[in-house]
Amino acid sequence: MTVRETNPNQHDPGQRELCDRIAQRIADSPNHQIPFADFMALALYDPEYGYYATNRVNIGGAGDFYTAPHLGSDFGELLAEQFAEMWRLLDYPNPFTLVEMGAGQGLLVRDILRYLHRHHDACFEALDYVIVEDSPALRQEQQQRMAKLVQTFGRLHWRTWEEIAPNSIVGCFFSNELIDALPVHRVIWKDGALHELCVTLADTTNTTGSTNSNPDEEKQSFSEAIAPLSTPALQHYFEQSSIDFAAARYPDGYTTEANLAALEWMETVAQRLQRGYVLTIDYGYPAQRYYLPTRRSGTLQCYFQHRHHDDPLVNIGLQDITAHANFTALERQGETCGLQTLGYTQQGLFLMALGMGDRIAAVSTLTPDESLTISDILGRREALHTLIDPAGMGNFGVLLQGKGEIPSQSVRGFCMP
Ligand SMILES: C[S@@+](CC[C@H](N)C(=O)[O-])C[C@H]1O[C@@H](n2cnc3c(N)ncnc32)[C@H](O)[C@@H]1O
Repeated sequence: MTVRETNPNQHDPGQRELCDRIAQRIADSPNHQIPFADFMALALYDPEYGYYATNRVNIGGAGDFYTAPHLGSDFGELLAEQFAEMWRLLDYPNPFTLVEMGAGQGLLVRDILRYLHRHHDACFEALDYVIVEDSPALRQEQQQRMAKLVQTFGRLHWRTWEEIAPNSIVGCFFSNELIDALPVHRVIWKDGALHELCVTLADTTNTTGSTNSNPDEEKQSFSEAIAPLSTPALQHYFEQSSIDFAAARYPDGYTTEANLAALEWMETVAQRLQRGYVLTIDYGYPAQRYYLPTRRSGTLQCYFQHRHHDDPLVNIGLQDITAHANFTALERQGETCGLQTLGYTQQGLFLMALGMGDRIAAVSTLTPDESLTISDILGRREALHTLIDPAGMGNFGVLLQGKGEIPSQSVRGFCMP
């Protein structure tokens, strides 16, 4: 068991309140411990003080982390090319609905709508754009950013899952870096059996989670505890991905993650899709690569002020916590829920197939003028290369699934560039 002080920021009452809530949840739980997934759900999504629920969430160049849309409009524009082709492949449905799940700061929606409007007018005219966003603070930021556009384009809506009827969507559900933000269970292979990593209070004399009267002692400490599996779904998760810890040579203490929330999400999406596609972009691997015996501590990472580390029990509510996507689990769960696996590729190849090469070539012909400095040109070139860098975003997984009557021909992003 490792003990770490959470060191709540003395000047941040929100963080103190969040730590107290987590402590209370632990105190109220059997054996005074909660699955790591419950801890992560509170740390990220507590409705008032979780990282994604507050306006402390800090994405972008100067923030805790950045994502593809922060590198300019190219990512959204190339995605828009893919969506325009899907509309044609689905035989020009009207409405053609794009459902963006986990829209962050609302950059992608802006880039996609602008591009479709300018370059694929007929598709734009048929379009309904729905955003499903869990975080109230981010939803508000998206609505503010899109306020002007909503006035002219009346078919942009924010919906909860409950507001999207089963079997209702003809179009494409898509997400970028959503799966890595879902709360994961952590497991450990120990003494020849699979156990679960839970979170407990390090200070057993203060199990209520209340703050001490002496301000110098106002430190809430959480620690990890090893417990039996909290649900048989964890065992099933690894079976579904064909991972057998007993058969392969996994070292004692091997620690990794299981994303049960991603399975639930996949089922929800599959139920709501009537005909069309599910496009999932995220960092991650197929199971055989994710669960390599040499990946001894899993993929859990925390992002705080553009640094990353592997300790989720510090900076609670102030840092992002992520784990890679297990694409095999998404494929198998999709198949169980009626989705067909249509393709799996890497982001670099996906974007190249959609025209990234032309964009890179075009940048190399640019010359500085009054409106374009040399540093603008170099910055754009760097951004394009970052999107396809095989050691970074270019290596992200891109999974395409489909449902209903869809043509058998490959969609453009999954053809060799
Ligand atoms: C890492 S951010 C990615 C944001 C954006 N897609 C981008 O590329 O910049 C994850 C996003 O997913 C949202 N989110 C997390 N769980 C969700 C869920 N179950 N349903 C919808 N959105 C969710 C978060 O609030 C956040 O907006």
